[in-house]
Amino acid sequence: MTVTADLEELKAKQQKMWSSGDYGKVAWLTVPLADVLCDAVDLRPGSTVLDVATGTGHVAIAAARRFCRSTGIDYVPALVEVARGRAAAEGLEVEFREADAENLPYADSSFDYVLSAIGVMFVADHRRAARELVRVCRPGGRVGVASWTPTGFIGQLLKTVGKHASPPAGSQPPTRWGSEEIVRELLGEGTSEVTCSTTTVVQRFLSPEHLADFFITEYGPTLKASERLTDEGKQAFRADLIALAAAANRATGGSLTCDWEYLVAVATKE
Ligand SMILES: C[S@@+](CC[C@H](N)C(=O)[O-])C[C@H]1O[C@@H](n2cnc3c(N)ncnc32)[C@H](O)[C@@H]1O
Repeated sequence: MTVTADLEELKAKQQKMWSSGDYGKVAWLTVPLADVLCDAVDLRPGSTVLDVATGTGHVAIAAARRFCRSTGIDYVPALVEVARGRAAAEGLEVEFREADAENLPYADSSFDYVLSAIGVMFVADHRRAARELVRVCRPGGRVGVASWTPTGFIGQLLKTVGKHASPPAGSQPPTRWGSEEIVRELLGEGTSEVTCSTTTVVQRFLSPEHLADFFITEYGPTLKASERLTDEGKQAFRADLIALAAAANRATGGSLTCDWEYLVAVATKE
C-alpha cells in the first residue's frame, strides 16, 4: 500500500471515531477554550475567520459573536449539523461546511484568522494540516491553535487510552501540538513569529467514576478503545481512568474538580 492509501485509511478510522459517542456532550467541557483563543489572537471585529475542525462550532460561533465573518469546517457531518443549529439558535450568520482540515477547500490567503481549538491536533497528517492552516491565512494574518499538552489531564488520558488499546498504525500522538517545541516547528514554516502560552480549563464532575463513565460513553477515543477490549480489559481501563481523575482531583466531599492544561500557539503569517 502507498503512504497516501495508508493515510486515507487512518483518516477514515479517525473520522469514524469522532462520529461515535456523542461529541456534542463532550464539547460542553471545552466552550471556554474558544474565547481564550479569540483573545489570544486579538480578534478584530469585521475580519474573516476560519475555524478548522470546528466540531459543534465553538470557535466559529465565538468569532461570530465578536462580529467577524465566520466559517467553520469539520469532516463529521453530524457535528456540522449541530454547529449550524447552535448558530441559528443565536441568530448568528456562520457558514458551516463539511471539509477536510488536511485539504482545505479555500484559495491561498483567504482568511484574516485561521483558528483551531483542540481540533487540528487530531488530524492524520500533522505537517500537511499545519501547512494548510498557514496557506489559507493572508499575509500579516494570524494562525491560532489550542492543544492539550502531553503532561496535562487529557494528555494523560490519551496516554492511558494508548496503554490499553494501541493507536491505529501510522497515527501521530495528537499532543505533539501541545508541545511548544513541536508546534513552533509545525507552524514555523511561512510565519514570522510563533508565541506560546500554557493555561488550564477547570472541569467539574460528580465523581472520578462519573468522569470515567462519561468519557467511555460519549468521547470517541475512549469509547472506541473500550469497545476493543475484553470485559476484564474494559474494567482495567475504567479503573485507570478513575485513578487518573482521582489523582488530579482537588475537590473534597466526593465530587471532582480538576484542571486540564492546554497550550495556545499563535503564529503571524509572513
Ligand atoms: C476534540 S474535537 C474538537 C472540536 C471543536 N474544535 C471544539 O472546540 O469543540 C476534534 C474535532 O476534529 C475533527 N477532525 C479531526 N480530523 C479532521 C480532519 N482531517 N478534517 C476535519 N475535521 C477533523 C473531528 O471531527 C472533531 O470534530
